[in-house]
Amino acid sequence: MSGEIINNINHLNLNNDNDENEDVVDPWNVVSKSETGVDYNKLIQKFGSSKIDQELIDRFEKVTGKKVHHLLRRGVFFSHRDMHTILTNYESGKPFYLYTGRGPSSSSMHLGHLIPFTLCKWLQDVFDVPLVIQLTDDEKTLWKDIKLEEAHKMAYENAKDIIAVGFNVEKTFIFSDLDYIGQCPEFYRNMIRIQKCVTFNQVKGIFGFDDSTVIGKIGFPAVQATPCLSTSFPDIFGNKKIQCLIPCAIDQDPYFRMTRDVSPRLGFKKPALLHSKFFPALQGAQTKMSASDANTTIFCNDTPKQVKNKINKHAFSGGQATVEDHRKLGGNCDIDISYQYLKFFLEDDEKLEQIRRDYTSGALLTGELKKILIDILTPLLIEQQRRRAKITDEVLKQYMTPRKLNFNI
Ligand code: TYM
Repeated sequence: MSGEIINNINHLNLNNDNDENEDVVDPWNVVSKSETGVDYNKLIQKFGSSKIDQELIDRFEKVTGKKVHHLLRRGVFFSHRDMHTILTNYESGKPFYLYTGRGPSSSSMHLGHLIPFTLCKWLQDVFDVPLVIQLTDDEKTLWKDIKLEEAHKMAYENAKDIIAVGFNVEKTFIFSDLDYIGQCPEFYRNMIRIQKCVTFNQVKGIFGFDDSTVIGKIGFPAVQATPCLSTSFPDIFGNKKIQCLIPCAIDQDPYFRMTRDVSPRLGFKKPALLHSKFFPALQGAQTKMSASDANTTIFCNDTPKQVKNKINKHAFSGGQATVEDHRKLGGNCDIDISYQYLKFFLEDDEKLEQIRRDYTSGALLTGELKKILIDILTPLLIEQQRRRAKITDEVLKQYMTPRKLNFNI
């Protein structure tokens, strides 16, 4: 085994320095003790990534000639790995591709899942690059009480939610692991190459596996790592080695810390990453929005009535207990979930700032703030549902067929 990898175990290790008050952030849990949610600056230090600072934002704008997406300029995407390298290479004509994914554990995706896909769509349009989307139906049947056939079916349902975000069919390949891995020898070979580089001890350290973990889980990290090697998609990239950029929430970083150690040993560039913060649960920022609890979550297929009821009933308020107190003392936007959601979905910076000032001063009441959110979110969701309803099986098949994409290397 390589000394390099052994030396890296500690920096990869997820759980080595957790004390009781420490935030827990891994692919399966996000829990913070603080009302304002996870301490993201601390996470950058702990994971060893880099902050997305003004210098990087300025570079993005210089290289693309476009104002950056509001999810970037507002710090929702807050951390990165090797984004400067991607931009430098892009400037000198060296291409990259985008890679992201979804683990189909529910038939509808929720608002939090839309965050990485929304940025992916913007990046695809601005840089004009291909995108591969992995649906880990294998992962979900291994981790959850879900039959393999069910997970496979949900992958196809989720693919419709994803396509409805608006991806360019000529530049996007979506695949279910359960279908594609058996069809593509190059993918399977890369998977085995990766599995040969990582020991049980290492994945134990990174993912917390133990002696009673089923072996499917132990091997799975290599499956999520494999799309980082461009030759896993011979129809798109032939045998060319191209760097990938992965937009995802920071919970997925452990997979890619592992991949970044392995890929240079296999002759590939390390995958670059853009990490987002978590879209919080309705009940407050201590946990992320998650598909496993319907009351904490707004799903992409919720009706306008459900959205209104969920926000009015469950969205945690940063306001005061009485109107008089609220007018006098004002509300706290840092913990108010309606305001936090607006940061993700209201594009207009000035309007958002006005809302922040009014709520903080007490001029805007909690009920009024919730109404603003409902009025902004409902048409966005209706539009997403309208686009989804138009996706026929034929369209789905187009995106999910391994094929050459419109991309010249
Ligand atoms: P999954 O299905 O848990 O999540 C899909 C994507 O959504 C992000 N995410 C969130 N983002 C913001 N707020 C939230 N509350 C929230 N919940 C989830 C996740 O970080 C992810 O980007 N194992 C993966 C599937 C996968 C993948 C990938 C993800 C395979 N390859 C490459 C990202 C990149 C999973 O179960 O994701």
